[in-house]
Amino acid sequence: MTSVQNESAVNDAVDTSKVPYRVVDELLIPTARYHSQEFFEVEKNLWKHSWQLACHETEIPRPGDFTEYKILDQSIMVIRQKDGSVKAFHNACRHRGTAIACGSGTFRADQVVCPFHGWRWNLEGKNTYIYARDAFREETIKQEDVDLPQVQVALRWGFVWINLDNDAAPFEESIHGIAGPLDGNGFEKAHITWWHQIEFEANWKVAQEAFFEAYHVMQAHPEMAGFLRDEDYNALAYAHYRTDPQGHGWTDSRAPRILQLPGQDDQMFADPEKMTPAVKFYMSAKVMWEGSQSQTNAHYIAILEDLLEMTDAQEFFSEFFKRAYIDAAKRGVELTPMHPDTTGHWSMFPNFTGVAMLGCALVYRSRPHPTDPNKCIYDFFALEIPPTGTPVKKPQIGADDAPTWDELWFVQQDASNIERMQTGLRSSALEYVRLGVDVERLIINWHQALDRELAKYV
Ligand code: FES
Ligand SMILES: [Fe+2]
Repeated sequence: MTSVQNESAVNDAVDTSKVPYRVVDELLIPTARYHSQEFFEVEKNLWKHSWQLACHETEIPRPGDFTEYKILDQSIMVIRQKDGSVKAFHNACRHRGTAIACGSGTFRADQVVCPFHGWRWNLEGKNTYIYARDAFREETIKQEDVDLPQVQVALRWGFVWINLDNDAAPFEESIHGIAGPLDGNGFEKAHITWWHQIEFEANWKVAQEAFFEAYHVMQAHPEMAGFLRDEDYNALAYAHYRTDPQGHGWTDSRAPRILQLPGQDDQMFADPEKMTPAVKFYMSAKVMWEGSQSQTNAHYIAILEDLLEMTDAQEFFSEFFKRAYIDAAKRGVELTPMHPDTTGHWSMFPNFTGVAMLGCALVYRSRPHPTDPNKCIYDFFALEIPPTGTPVKKPQIGADDAPTWDELWFVQQDASNIERMQTGLRSSALEYVRLGVDVERLIINWHQALDRELAKYV
């Protein structure tokens, strides 16, 4: 049994006929969507109007802290305000365009200063100083023309979200459907434990979709599949995807395990004789921990090792989650109580994806390269809720205390196929990729949502 929704009816209500290489049969995705310059040009509109993840709040903990967010050829500077709120501005000096912020850092004494000729603004983007003001004709430097143009900002789950379209619907409307599945993870309390950013030689959708399904687990992650092969490994057991008309998608809840509601645990194992739920769950968690140092932690692994003999799925899950909450509380970690909608795997349109368990997560952001559809910029963020009161440490890409990219062998099992896919997708003999009805439902949903969005701009 799988839990899916068919999005076709939603797409039928929108005229997508002018979108190049549009999806006509939801199970056959034209490969040109991943490499054609024509599609890439139309797709750029997505980024001008979508809510997107600009940074994590811990990147800008104190007033004056800033970070630069780049999307295509646009640069945005995100600044922490004196009252703790966050504002974002187009990162272009109103004099001659110099990018005011570069990377991340701190604007001191409430002054944002352009490095070229020293024009200044306060943290709210209001221009406060123009050097040799008399040198300019007054009407070319009207206050409203020299203040920094703002972009929309929202804070949620510890992340800063921006939208370049000031007329776009509020963030809270755009997350319809996905808020419930994400809220119970308590991300707003999490810090980033490691962060890697990779430029892949692949379209940003190829890289993203590598984390959209569990159908690849049997072949790409043999350790996680317990070295079960082919028909012994039940790919359909992981096909409990749900989708939302706004493009978001998520697997069915894992909250029932802890809340002791009816769940699907009895379907998760192809052959219970070969693998008990306890052993399977332990094995997946241990692989994630050893190979990705995220989505779980050493404390949970130790608890699971204690419970390996348990044979009843419901008893095992309820005991594990009970002990995990007690253990976290002892360490001063405030886990968020799970809600029946809480999920451990989601994608939020257009480019925020992740897996999570009990305050630990691995989340992904995929962005297009500014000019080349065959390249992308991909971020991997490991998050964990630390003991309450832990001082914030600004995350840095590939920080010294982070696992090196080479150590993250599980993540690399996924990454290793990304560039190979791009090579194949450009083959003149491959017109479509073909998707599984349930196991690749998030990809289906996502492309349909993309076409509905692009239809607004062609
Ligand atoms: S370009 Fe910024 S002050 Fe001249
Ligand atoms: Fe994977």
